Amino acid sequence: MKFITTLMLFTVVMVQAQTENRFYATMALQDAKELQQDIPNEIEILKEFRNEAAVYMTNHASHLLHDRVLVHGPGYIRKTSASDAISSISYIPTNTSSRLVAFNITEDVIVNETLPLINTQNIEDHILELEAYGNRYHANPEGSQSANDLKTKWEAMAASYGRTDVSVRLFNHTGTNMPSVIMTIEGAEIPEEFVVVGGHLDSTSNQGNNNAPGADDDASGIATITEATRALFEVGFVPKRTIEVMAYAAEEIGLVGSAEIAAQYDNNNVNVIAVGQFDMTLYNGSANDVGFITDFTSGEITAFMMSLIDHYNNGGAHPITYGVSQCNYGCSDHASWTSRGYLSAFPFEANFGQHNGQIHSPNDTFSLTGTAEHSAKFAKLCAEFLIEASKSEGSLGVSTIEANNIQVQVNNGALSYDLSASASSFKTLSVYDIQGKLAMQTNITNTKGVVNIQKMQTGVYVVTFETTNGQSVSKKVVVQ
Ligand code: BES
Ligand code: ZN
Repeated sequence: MKFITTLMLFTVVMVQAQTENRFYATMALQDAKELQQDIPNEIEILKEFRNEAAVYMTNHASHLLHDRVLVHGPGYIRKTSASDAISSISYIPTNTSSRLVAFNITEDVIVNETLPLINTQNIEDHILELEAYGNRYHANPEGSQSANDLKTKWEAMAASYGRTDVSVRLFNHTGTNMPSVIMTIEGAEIPEEFVVVGGHLDSTSNQGNNNAPGADDDASGIATITEATRALFEVGFVPKRTIEVMAYAAEEIGLVGSAEIAAQYDNNNVNVIAVGQFDMTLYNGSANDVGFITDFTSGEITAFMMSLIDHYNNGGAHPITYGVSQCNYGCSDHASWTSRGYLSAFPFEANFGQHNGQIHSPNDTFSLTGTAEHSAKFAKLCAEFLIEASKSEGSLGVSTIEANNIQVQVNNGALSYDLSASASSFKTLSVYDIQGKLAMQTNITNTKGVVNIQKMQTGVYVVTFETTNGQSVSKKVVVQ
């Protein structure tokens, strides 16, 4: 009895102390319901939509949720207002224009020249440099300082290779004072199509924010994309599409930086054709090198990265092995792009659960592993991805005009397509949901056809047509 009274008193004090510290967020519905059971006064579910919930909760509730991450992995995404939270769980991206994806693998010469140039020591140096800030918490001066310094560093790197087609900018946010950093390599032929790779620059610690070295989470990702880009500069690679390399701010408090960037790109209809997320590449925790995260990502882009590994890293001098895994929530910045209708992949350091157990603690240091060899594999994959995704389609590719020749319509539970205006011959039709999961696949025998999709839930889907020579064209559809 005494215990219960004390507990009630404690709860009252906690609730009073936490009322000013509430904020809006989205999270997995199941997590929201569990929190509501445990601490009903600290979380309000504003709206449920499919597996997600828009909530208003205390900081304390978010810490409880965050602390469970290493056990079974719940997370949340911070939102600026109730309407922001509600609209983002039921959000249908505005940029539903068709995206051309012609992901064939043709650049053996330049890729094979690039792979041996990936320098493990450079990756180690970048990680140690970022670790030396002590913390890169978004609200601390070190967070913003690290962003300003990274801009200078990337500028110097591009300048040292004489690259006048490269610029670096800070992206200022409303949800945090820390800016993100974006390096742009202007596409030489189709600059309006973008390929993005990114990781988060900020760090956090569950023992106070001032001791958050964040070596693996996520200095390793920033180091990985930096070294991949440097190797591209060293071989003099000039992309046909525009490449953007992004260091996101304030990921650790709910994907704040990447969410604002993806929202702006969506609102401006920026045609990002593929996104690669590099968050944690240092710790070698599983039998396979890479654990591809298959939820909140695109099946197409993930499959493309897998085929890059099959092609370039199947044994030989630069071997990489891979498997698949799931976060079960939008655990990193790829989810910001996914929720805006963009296609992303997330090659992760291990299977979820076998990853570095010291993240978000003062022990997330480089010395835990003592070598950046694991990260070097991700830098190789990143370089392959940037080269092969940013080239133009090549002579065998399906051109943009071809993409426009493909008609897809959804009406009353039926998906009808008409490929008769296209010069290519097609073999399969695949439908992916917004989380990248294959929802349906069928063989194509005629240039026109109707597929029954009555069993599919409402939402946004990507319909991919694969040609007999391995090209693909994707169109987005909304099932209502
Ligand atoms: N790097 C982690 C994500 C992660 C952790 C992926 C473990 C896979 C395994 C990221 O920086 C992070 O901490 N994310 C938050 C969620 C985010 C929405 C605040 C998390 O996992 O709690
Ligand atoms: Zn983290």
